[in-house]
Amino acid sequence: MRKKLIIGNWKMNLNMQEASLYLHKLMEVLKPRRDVEVVVAPTTLTLQSLSLQINRRIAKLAAQNCYWRDHGAYTGEVPAAHLRGIADYVLIGHSERRYIFIESDKDIRLKVQAAIRNRLQPILCIGETAQERALGETRDVLADQLTSGLANVTAEELDKVVIAYEPIWAIGTGDNAKPVDVKKATQMIRQHVAHLYGKKAAEEVRILYGGSITVDNAADYLAISGLDGLLVGAASLDIHQFTEIIEKAHKG
Ligand code: PGA
Repeated sequence: MRKKLIIGNWKMNLNMQEASLYLHKLMEVLKPRRDVEVVVAPTTLTLQSLSLQINRRIAKLAAQNCYWRDHGAYTGEVPAAHLRGIADYVLIGHSERRYIFIESDKDIRLKVQAAIRNRLQPILCIGETAQERALGETRDVLADQLTSGLANVTAEELDKVVIAYEPIWAIGTGDNAKPVDVKKATQMIRQHVAHLYGKKAAEEVRILYGGSITVDNAADYLAISGLDGLLVGAASLDIHQFTEIIEKAHKG
């Protein structure tokens, strides 16, 4: 059985002091669970000092982004190579990266590859816009984003990759996707991974849902067979809500 994976994406919130205090409390209240893996994704600036503070038996760290080249004249960027050993995971292609920072499919493909090359587990975020959904294009959009994002990933490397289904219209809007639709999307993703890598790989790949998750709706997603966990944004900024969501994953 795959472990449940609960990731808190703090986005551009919690400065050094706030992040350190949050982590301190999290280490106090969380117990290591065999059935749940907990990850938090703080800002890049805070990652290194949090990596010295965190107890990795209790929780792990994700970067929110990385650059795909290992070094060079790329002002302002942080390469996956520098995150190696500091973070365990890295979010790649989050919709805020795709739409606000205009990351292309090619950028995302190269970043996935850079993450794997540098021993970080990429969390590849995919999802359709409201318009694509209205036009019934969800399956095609997911297939295209998977094909493109995983283009350079070998079958052996696929077990490092986590896929997060994050419908754009559900992120930060309070308009969470219906569990029945998340279940369908999860099946579409597994079918496409099977098409690309075979049935066994498709059964093993971890798939998360993200988009307006709250303490009240988390259990509905955790009950979906074939879904392995949650990528939590706003609700993860409140340690009580985040730990309650983790508890539901443990019980669920
Ligand atoms: P949200 O964010 O939970 O605040 O909607 C989810 C995400 O961006 O991963």
